[in-house]
Amino acid sequence: MILITGGAGFIGTNFILDWVRYSDEVIINLDKLTYAGNLQNLTSLADNPQHIFTHGDICDREKVTALLNRYQPRAIIHMAAESHVDRSIHGPEDFVQTNITGTFRLLDATHHYWKNLTPPQKIDFRFLHVSTDEVFGSLDQQAPAFTENHCLRPNSPYSASKAASDCLVRAYFHTYGLPVLTTHCSNNYGAYQFPEKLIPLMIANALAGKPLPVYGDGQQIRDWLYVNDHCSAIRCVLEQGQPGETYNIGGWNEKPNLEIVHTICDILQTYQPADYHALITFITDRPGHDRRYAIDARKIERELGWKPAETFATGIEKTVRWYLENQDWVANVQSGDYRKWVEINYDGRSIQ
Ligand code: NAD
Ligand code: DAU
Repeated sequence: MILITGGAGFIGTNFILDWVRYSDEVIINLDKLTYAGNLQNLTSLADNPQHIFTHGDICDREKVTALLNRYQPRAIIHMAAESHVDRSIHGPEDFVQTNITGTFRLLDATHHYWKNLTPPQKIDFRFLHVSTDEVFGSLDQQAPAFTENHCLRPNSPYSASKAASDCLVRAYFHTYGLPVLTTHCSNNYGAYQFPEKLIPLMIANALAGKPLPVYGDGQQIRDWLYVNDHCSAIRCVLEQGQPGETYNIGGWNEKPNLEIVHTICDILQTYQPADYHALITFITDRPGHDRRYAIDARKIERELGWKPAETFATGIEKTVRWYLENQDWVANVQSGDYRKWVEINYDGRSIQ
């Protein structure tokens, strides 16, 4: 069996739902269920013995150790994190706690567990750390895309905490020989993404007739990766990646934010006609906003034979349709806490 951390979040949910489709191996899901974790996403697996949920914190070393000893996983996919850049600006401490301390405690417990495995089990074991392209910092317009060798230049408390966790993972390989793999992926989008992130926030606001808040001039560029492509890449790295190596995962879809928002408005118009474009509102920029990310994903293609299956056009169409068909899901996660977050992040910003 394998263990995933953060399996009730956006990418974790999609990973688990895909896992039970493509494999018959049991997956244990350790999740703290923060505001971003939602077990309702996995209700279709309620009676499926292939998914075992455990409520807990990766910072809780005893809990993690007990879990490893009980289930004896052959691999760990580490996804649990505080993941939203804007939240890291308003409250960085949780990011240091989960992303740095939590990753350290998980690594350390894993190291002690791994040391006591039999020699063949030790060779086969993998700790796969899911990181982000944001650790590489911001690119100029004409600069080549990030390769795996780009130096770490994180600019937000979120990316700094992820870069620190990458360094710890690397250290456990070089110092103790723990067989680790690290992936750096670009912006994911798809079903079950919490509506604090650009794409689901824009869809939810448009459907509610609310302003579509574009930071600054909206010309910041991100590379967009359909979440199920990310999940297939992780499965590929898990089975074929070389311990100690890092792999970039991207969608070859560099686009400015404003173009993304216009595309969402165009698609929504075909399903539910309204003047969504008129809702676009330019507001005060994010402090320290990275201008451009771009992923060079040739290594994973060359060495492991992985390529994304979706284009942006097909992925965004599926995504908008999912949100249209799952408006109850959106309403459920827009709880009291969500409304508080919207006030913290948006109310103080002026319209540009
Ligand atoms: P998410 O915020 O949707 O989910 C995070 C999950 O981790 C939640 O279920 C939450 O309850 C859980 N969690 C948080 N703190 C925990 C703790 N201390 N112990 C146990 N569980 C905890 O995040 P996501 O978008 O699914 O991202 C998953 C991973 O992928 C993160 O490591 C993130 O840095 C990375 N990543 C995300 C993207 C993206 O575009 N979403 C891109 C690149 C990398
Ligand atoms: O690049 C990978 C990263 O992508 C992941 O590591 C992070 O976990 C994930 O949250 C994401 O970070 P971003 O900051 O790029 O994603 P977000 O959806 O918050 O914002 C995408 C872009 O849209 C960014 O340039 C900021 C802008 N934006 C975002 C929001 C929420 C707006 O213009 N308005 C908004 O209201």
